[in-house]
Amino acid sequence: MRHYYRIFIIALLLLAGCREREPERREWLLTDWAFSRDSVEWAMVTVPHDWAVEGPFDRANDLQAVAVTQNFETDVTEHTGRTGGLPYMGKGWYRTTFDVPGFNPGETAVTLLFDGAMSQAKVRVNGRFVVEWPYGYNAFHTDVTEYLNPDGKGNLLEVSLENLPHSSRWYPGAGLYRNVHLIRTHKTHIPLWGTCLRTPEVSGKEAVVEFGIRAENVVEGMRLCATIYDADGYRRASLDTVAYAEQTLRLPVADPQLWSPEHPNLYSAVVRIYDGNRTYDVHETRFGIRTIELVPDKGFYLNGQLRKIQGVCNHHDLGPLGAAVNRAALRHQLTLLKDMGCDAIRTSHNMPAPELVELCDEMGFMMMVEAFDEWDIAKCENGYHLYFDKWAEKDMVNMIVHFRNNPSVIMWGIGNEVPTQCAAEGYKVAAFLQDICHREDPTRLVTAGMDQADCVVRNGFAQLLDVVGFNYRTHKYESAYKILPQKLLLGSETASTVSSRGVYKFPVELAAGAKYPDNQCSSYDVEYCWWSNVPDVDFALQDDLPWTIGQFVWTGFDYLGEPTPYDVDAWPSHSSYFGIFDLASLPKDRFWLYRSQWNHASPTLHVLPHWTWPGREGEKTPVVCYTSYPMAELFVNGVSQGVQRFHPDEPLRRYRLIWPDVVYEPGGIEVLAYDEKGREMDRVSVRTAGAPDHIELESDRTELDADGLDLAYVTVCIVDAEGNLCPDADAPVSFDVAGAGCFRAAANGDATCLVPFQSPSMPAFHGQLTAIIQSGTLPGAITLTAVAEGLDSAKLTIKTK
Ligand code: GAL
Repeated sequence: MRHYYRIFIIALLLLAGCREREPERREWLLTDWAFSRDSVEWAMVTVPHDWAVEGPFDRANDLQAVAVTQNFETDVTEHTGRTGGLPYMGKGWYRTTFDVPGFNPGETAVTLLFDGAMSQAKVRVNGRFVVEWPYGYNAFHTDVTEYLNPDGKGNLLEVSLENLPHSSRWYPGAGLYRNVHLIRTHKTHIPLWGTCLRTPEVSGKEAVVEFGIRAENVVEGMRLCATIYDADGYRRASLDTVAYAEQTLRLPVADPQLWSPEHPNLYSAVVRIYDGNRTYDVHETRFGIRTIELVPDKGFYLNGQLRKIQGVCNHHDLGPLGAAVNRAALRHQLTLLKDMGCDAIRTSHNMPAPELVELCDEMGFMMMVEAFDEWDIAKCENGYHLYFDKWAEKDMVNMIVHFRNNPSVIMWGIGNEVPTQCAAEGYKVAAFLQDICHREDPTRLVTAGMDQADCVVRNGFAQLLDVVGFNYRTHKYESAYKILPQKLLLGSETASTVSSRGVYKFPVELAAGAKYPDNQCSSYDVEYCWWSNVPDVDFALQDDLPWTIGQFVWTGFDYLGEPTPYDVDAWPSHSSYFGIFDLASLPKDRFWLYRSQWNHASPTLHVLPHWTWPGREGEKTPVVCYTSYPMAELFVNGVSQGVQRFHPDEPLRRYRLIWPDVVYEPGGIEVLAYDEKGREMDRVSVRTAGAPDHIELESDRTELDADGLDLAYVTVCIVDAEGNLCPDADAPVSFDVAGAGCFRAAANGDATCLVPFQSPSMPAFHGQLTAIIQSGTLPGAITLTAVAEGLDSAKLTIKTK
C-alpha cells in the first residue's frame, strides 16, 4: 500500500511539471526477436534467450584436449563436459524492430542498454554499426538517437554474436541471455548510471546521503529537485536547487533504517529536472544506508557490528534454464540459500545480472561482485586475455558504475585465480584494476581470489589488496596472516567438496579425487579435490581465528560444466558436483551441514544416509546427523545406538554427530535431539522404503504472477505405499501442464543425465526430480500432472493472478 503512496507522489511530481504530457522518460524491454544460427533460417524467440540450453548434450560439443593449468595439469588430456556439453559455440544473429512512441527529433534521446550479450556483441541500428562489446557478462549501453528513423518508427535492431571455442572454463550460455532495454528520455536527462549515492556519515540518529548527479543538456534556468523516500514511500529529505551538468548534494536523513542481510531496508532517491513550466526528467535510484569497515585483527563490521561472511559462490547459469536470466528462478535460489543461513553471494567469476543484485538488495544478501577469471595471461586459449589490454578498464567502469548504488554490494572482486598473480609484475596489473575501483567507488573494498598463496605473499600481490582473499590453501592461512599487513583474511573460495544427491559410498573415508564407475560422488560429504577440503575445515578456521572474515563456499548450486572429478574423458558427466544444491535445486545433505552452523534463527536436525539398503544387511553403515542441537541419540529399529556429542578435537566430529559402527538392518532409524540438559527437543526418522507406489508433488509456490515469467519449482518424489521416499527409484516421469501456464523445464540433478531439460519426460534420480512450471499472461489455474509407468500419478494446481 505504502509503495503505491510513493508511486502516487512520483506521479504527482510528474504532473506538476507537465500536466498533459506523458512522462518524457519511459523504458521498454525488447523481448520479441527473430533468431538465426546461420543468418538464413530465422525463428521467433523471446529474450532473455539462451540458444544452447535446449541441447542436445553431446560429447563433441566441448571436447578440449588441454592441460588445465588451473589444476596444475602438465599433460594434455581429453577433457569432456567441461563447458556443459551444450552447443554454445559459433555464431548467432538476432533481429527485431522497435518504435519509439512520442519520438521527437531534436528533443528525444534514446538509449539501448544490454544487460549482457554472450558474446562478442556487434550492434547495428537501421543498418549502421553502433557499438560492440566483447565480454559477454558485462552490461553496456549506447545512445542511438541519431541512428533512428525520423518518425521514430520501424527501427531495425540487429545483434550478431560469436562464442569462440576454448573461451571458458564453465558453461557461459549463448545469445541475448539477459534483458535488452530501450530507454526514451528528453534530451535533458539523467544519463544511464548517472547517479551516485553514498552514505559517508551514519549514526543511529542521522545519515548524510551524498547524492551525486550527472545531467545532460541542462541549460540556464533549469532547476533540480532531489528527494529521498523511505521504503514506505514517506519523504525523508528534499532539496531544490539550480541544475548543473554535474553536482553532489548532501541530504540528511533522520533516524535512518540501516540495510543489512537481516533487515534489508531500502530507500529511493528521486531527482526531477524542471523549469518554470516543464519537467524534463524524473529519475529514481534505489539505495541503502549502511557502513562497512575492516579492522585489522578484529574483522569485518557491517553497521558497526562484527560478523563473518557466510557466503556461497555461484556461476550465473540457472541449471535447467541455462543462462537465460529469470528473476523468479533467482529468487527461488536465494530463498533456499536464506533458509540455510547464507548471507552473501560471490558472483563467480563475472558481472552478475542486475536482477540478482536487485534481489540481493531486497532479500538481504551481501555481494562480492567479481569481474574476471583471467587478465592479461591466459587460462583459456580464447579467454579474456585477448581483450584485457583494450577492454579491462571499460569493463571495470561499467561494472562499478552499474552496481555502485546497490547496498548489497560490499566488495569488488577484480580477479579469480588469475595466472598474473605469480607474474613478476603481476602486482602492477592488480594495482591498475584496484585503482579503477577506488577511483570510481572509494566506498568499497577490493579483493581478488588468490590460490597461489606462496607467490602472492612473496611478490607483493597480496599485500596491495584491500582484502586478502584466499581460494582454498587453508593450511597457509596462518603463515600468510603473520606476514600480511592487512591482518585479516577472507576465504574467497572454500570447500569444493563434491557429492551427488542420494548417493552414498562405502567404506566412508575422507578422500581427495575419489572416482567410481557410476560417475557419482558420495553424499557422506567426505570427498573433495586435491586442492580443496571438506566444509568442517573452513568452519573451524572461521570459528577459531578472529582474523578470518568469512568465506564463500564453492558452490551454492551445481552448475553446467566443470564436472570434476569426472572431467577427463569421463563423458557423460557434464555438470558440477560441487553444489550444496544440485542442478535441480534440490538440497544435498551438505545443505543441512551448512544450515546447522549458519542458521541461527531456526534449529537444524537431519540424518543420513537413507535406510533402504537391500544386500547390505549385517554390514557397517555409518549414520551421521547434522544438527544445531548439542547432542542426539540414534535408534535403529527402536534400539539405542548411544548418545553422540560433538568432539572439538576430532576434525570430522566437531560439526557432525557420527555413529560409525551402525549395522544395517531394514526397518528404520530415528534420531532424537537433546538440549544440554538432556531434554528431547526434536526427532527425525528415516524408514526403509518398500516398492515404488505413487508420485508425490510439492510446489514451492501456490500462486504465481500472471506475467508470463513467474516460475513454480515442483519437487517430484517417487514414494512407497506409506509415503517413504524410494531412494533408488529412477523411473521416467512424464509431465503434462494444462491451463494458465506451461511446462518450462525439468532436471533431476544427475550430472550424467543427457535428457534435455526441455523434455517433458525425465527419469527420477534417487527418487526425486524437479519440474519447473511457468505462468502465462492470463489469470487462472495451472494443472500439472505427473505420470510414471506402474505408479499412481499425481496432480497439482497452481493459481495465477
Ligand atoms: C577454483 C576455481 C573455480 C573452480 C573451483 C573448482 O580453483 O576458482 O572456478 O574451478 O576451483 O574446485
